[in-house]
Amino acid sequence: MNTEGVVREQLAGVLDPELGASIVELGMVGAISVLGRRVEVEIALTTVGCPLRAQIERDVREAVRGLDDVDEVAVVTTVMDATAKRELLSRARLLARDRALATSIPAGSPIITIASGKGGVGKSAVTAGLARALAATGRTVGVLDADIWGFSLARLLKIDGEVEAKNAKMIPLEKRVGAGQIRLLSMGLLADEDQALLWRGLIVQKAVAQFIDDADWTGCDYFLIDTPPGTGDIAMTLARMLPAMGQIVVTTPDPGAARVAARAADFARKSHVKVLGIIENMSPFTCENGTLHAPFGVGGGRRLADELDVPLLAEIPLDVRIGEGFDAEGVFANLARALIDEVAPPIGAAGCSARLLDALELATREVL
Ligand SMILES: Nc1ncnc2c1ncn2[C@@H]1O[C@H](COP(=O)(O)OP(=O)(O)OP(=O)(O)O)[C@@H](O)[C@H]1O
Ligand SMILES: [Mg+2]
Repeated sequence: MNTEGVVREQLAGVLDPELGASIVELGMVGAISVLGRRVEVEIALTTVGCPLRAQIERDVREAVRGLDDVDEVAVVTTVMDATAKRELLSRARLLARDRALATSIPAGSPIITIASGKGGVGKSAVTAGLARALAATGRTVGVLDADIWGFSLARLLKIDGEVEAKNAKMIPLEKRVGAGQIRLLSMGLLADEDQALLWRGLIVQKAVAQFIDDADWTGCDYFLIDTPPGTGDIAMTLARMLPAMGQIVVTTPDPGAARVAARAADFARKSHVKVLGIIENMSPFTCENGTLHAPFGVGGGRRLADELDVPLLAEIPLDVRIGEGFDAEGVFANLARALIDEVAPPIGAAGCSARLLDALELATREVL
């Protein structure tokens, strides 16, 4: 006769088709009861309308039927509550991280993509400002301009030159900033703007993959990725190649824009990418005579952050000097501090709550 343990062991071979990890490891298998030759298994799904429900049920049934002394298998599906869902995502993230191919980006260095639902909200300006501010603290900041068609970081960071290869690896172009440095790879350093427009579809994804795999990013303390607008193939390539990355979502204060930005966050979560927080850009500013101007509305960033239950990391005022690298009111310096201390500290030099989170993640892993 079978025991609960035997059935659970058998189920360890069933993979969640979407996450590619064992349903046992993911914590989706609930109670198991064995009554003679009848086995009942409880499976917790993330949503009621899980499109893969039929497949998971079938795989579970087949796996259990594969055991000796089983005539009947009943699969009871339940739906996870918010806490269980969060745990599943955190486990999926850990498992994906363990499976990810090694890149030259140092293991403990935070990888952060800057994304938004729509274009022109200031992703590139934020990436440039944050790269400078992080470098100013003495760190080496790798910057990948993954906006293959609309690259702009070489111009924004005032980095010019031609990328060279050493040992078949592209060497990012370097620029000293204060005590640290920025290292950049961008299509803008490989091709002129007309040529870049010729890149299409798969080739674009390949270009991003090459900028990660075939480049020398050793020694970077932080790795920032500026993404094109929307949630496209490039975002998917990045999520697959760099499962440890976190995402910052940029939005304007307009509540309509925040709704679009929510889509980027939604996509991130579906790809098991952690949303680190929201940055509101083009926020209200006070002019010389003390009047407050809010041409793009107010409150969108705060609302989105509350909706997603993530921190509002910065409100960057509208200021024409931003494009010139000016840090209006020190917002980028403060943002860099918040990342280093709390939100995305380099592993090994983690801030208090980050260490606690790591410990929690480890503990979850140990009970598997
Ligand atoms: N806080 C700000 N104050 C004033 N101008 C800004 C601010 N942030 C960005 N800009 C300007 O807005 C324009 C769009 O910014 P940016 O190119 O960074 O947006 P983006 O989201 O990267 O756009 P795309 O989706 O096209 O890549 C630029 O001209 C930039 O200089
Ligand atoms: Mg841009």
